[in-house]
Amino acid sequence: MKHLIDIKDLSTDEIDDLIVLAKDIIKNPENYSTKCNGKKLATLFFEPSTRTRLSFEAAMLELGGHVLGFSSADSSSTSKGESVADTIRVVGYYADIIAMRHPKEGAPLVASLKSTVPIINAGDGGHNHPTQTLTDMLTISIEKGKLDNLTIGLCGDLKFGRTVHSLITAMVQRKNIKFVLISPKELVIPEYLKKEVLDKNNIEYIETRSLEEHINELDILYMTRVQKERFFNEADYLRLKDYYILDEEKLKKARKDLCIMHPLPRVNEISTEVDDDPRACYFKQALYGKYIRMALILQMLEIR
Ligand code: NCD
Repeated sequence: MKHLIDIKDLSTDEIDDLIVLAKDIIKNPENYSTKCNGKKLATLFFEPSTRTRLSFEAAMLELGGHVLGFSSADSSSTSKGESVADTIRVVGYYADIIAMRHPKEGAPLVASLKSTVPIINAGDGGHNHPTQTLTDMLTISIEKGKLDNLTIGLCGDLKFGRTVHSLITAMVQRKNIKFVLISPKELVIPEYLKKEVLDKNNIEYIETRSLEEHINELDILYMTRVQKERFFNEADYLRLKDYYILDEEKLKKARKDLCIMHPLPRVNEISTEVDDDPRACYFKQALYGKYIRMALILQMLEIR
């Protein structure tokens, strides 16, 4: 049985197959509307979510399946002291596949060791978020028409932003990818990603504080929210939260074909005036998340 805990659990070919399948689902949704009849997805969210949980649930419903689950640790027996391992053993009796989000790094991996059904990591603390990466790669593939020869700017909270960690890990497998890593020095990407992922794969990258200086070089600008819930100290969060605000003025210097992405939720880091800019892709990105999750559910349940 296969789980999806880290984006590295999928080969480049497997990711490409998922993207092809998601594009076919977008074109011919009627062909997929009964594929999961009688199947159940459990969404176990020990941490808040809007898009990830609801797009997983919409994905299963559009495949003709059913959904069950909880949307906060408070409404589950976790609040009584139950371990993740025990919760997972039991939910395996009720569902065919589980999408799980947890504030602790590694919790979905622990769950997968005890589970009798496939587990999907829907975000673990400040660590990984593989299904957001699949969403992001489908978005890039549709909006740019390719997944190689790209200069990708990642801006904001690169330290705690799990979507950034998974996206870098996946994109280093593609040809001629350059990264511009834009963050205040307090929020630079973790050392292990530089050593184990960027350097190991001989990837060209720069680290900078300045969005303005580099915005004109980018094919993709991936904005991120400063991850309030991961800070130890509120003063640090307040000092850093509005460090970057993308607005139309800054975008004057950017390319006409820039693709602006954001996993959402947005707080202040993209001004709402940008929403009407043809380069803004972040709401489409949230829609694509449903289709790639449909493809993923089909593949993990081995339904063709
Ligand atoms: C992201 C997450 O949960 O890591 N959101 C999402 O899944 N779309 C990004 C964030 O919360 O800032």
